[in-house]
Amino acid sequence: MWGGRFAEGPAAVMREINASIPFDKRLWQQDIRASKAHLAMLAQQGIVGTEDAAQISAGLDKIAAEYEANGVPVDLSLEDIHMATEARLAELIGPAAGRLHTARSRNDQVATDFRLWVRDAMDAVAAGLVELQKALILRAEAHADAVMPGFTHLQSAQPVTLGHHLMAWYEMIRRDRARFADARARMNECPLGAAALAGTGFPIDRHATAKALDFDKPTDNSLDSVSDRDFALDYLMAASQCALHLSRMSEEIVIWASQPFGFVALPDQWSTGSSIMPQKRNPDAVELIRGHAGRITGCLNALMMTMKGLPLAYSKDMQDDKPPVFEAHDLLALSIAAMTGMVESVTFRTDRMRALAESGFATATDLADWLVREAGLPFREAHHVTGRAVKRAEELQSALADIPLAELQAIHPSINDSVYSVLTVDASVASRMSHGGTAPAQVRARIADAKALLGL
Ligand code: ARG
Repeated sequence: MWGGRFAEGPAAVMREINASIPFDKRLWQQDIRASKAHLAMLAQQGIVGTEDAAQISAGLDKIAAEYEANGVPVDLSLEDIHMATEARLAELIGPAAGRLHTARSRNDQVATDFRLWVRDAMDAVAAGLVELQKALILRAEAHADAVMPGFTHLQSAQPVTLGHHLMAWYEMIRRDRARFADARARMNECPLGAAALAGTGFPIDRHATAKALDFDKPTDNSLDSVSDRDFALDYLMAASQCALHLSRMSEEIVIWASQPFGFVALPDQWSTGSSIMPQKRNPDAVELIRGHAGRITGCLNALMMTMKGLPLAYSKDMQDDKPPVFEAHDLLALSIAAMTGMVESVTFRTDRMRALAESGFATATDLADWLVREAGLPFREAHHVTGRAVKRAEELQSALADIPLAELQAIHPSINDSVYSVLTVDASVASRMSHGGTAPAQVRARIADAKALLGL
């Protein structure tokens, strides 16, 4: 490619360290699309003749068909997808192929291709997250009344509903979608035409290529255009946060599936057996989602370190931007699909959840609140009285709702029969009607909001 200046070819190791074709072949569709937009603009502006343009365009179509049918051939001496496609074009149509690279450099070319790829990736993730949200909403709706223990410090705290818990997961995903949408809106500017770094003297129309590639506008600074990888970092940041959320959900499913909890039965399709322990059913899918979060955040860290301290404009370090983004995207797409399948098909053992909610003195706060409301005690004193009631219940091996009234009155004389109406787990959850609270009516209202947002 640079035989005019170079007498010798590269050393074998140089060829290997230099080549990105083994991974950037994944950009081939974006590369052809951007080349066709660039070519149409060059023809429109009279920079390339109509006949050459028609030949180049047909050649690019033929190459796309070849790649589609046989994959992209990997030849390290052709370095990257841009050179591989241009070399093939020259084979197919001869010297006219050389006109395509007028008023463009691989620096703006790769910046454009990669942006197009990341934009598609963001759209794919958004579509996957919508499916996960739908699955969560459907299961939450079916279990809006199902009482389970709510935890803080992973200790039974207050009863909540399963629907409420699932809608907490929905909220995490709602924010993830917003982060991807925000990143997409910010990145939707076209670097094509920035050329190597300084722009070009040819009378190109950058607005036309931006429009043809569905960007909002061309980028405004050619130096920044070829050296900006914020869009890839934004993708990885949103992906990392999403992966963290998926790992937290996964962790809860792992815990819920353990025998001492027994809150869920794992579906055959989303679990595996053990080669040695016949009784086992392992939550591998969610364990892997939990593990993938480590790799995805590692990808973010990798690209941050690559970009750190790079001077303007393009440096070859930036070729290393693609592997972490590809890896993170593959892992995230799989994780989202697997989590959606898990949420859709896991069996919730609501009887077991209820039994545990009833056994952990989870309505102690309700007793304290009753003492404040009905007996006029200051909350701190009510807290103390309730602590004694819990201690007595423990001694009697009884649920709070089953302690005889005489026992409660021995602890505090103002307690009367009406206290029992707040000591059941159903009464407890139903009372929490504050916005976003766990009362089934609240949960149903939030589900209705979520459905409206998704157009369901
Ligand atoms: N393969 C390169 C990359 O991915 C393309 C740009 C190369 N530009 C250059 N001047 N060497 O970054």
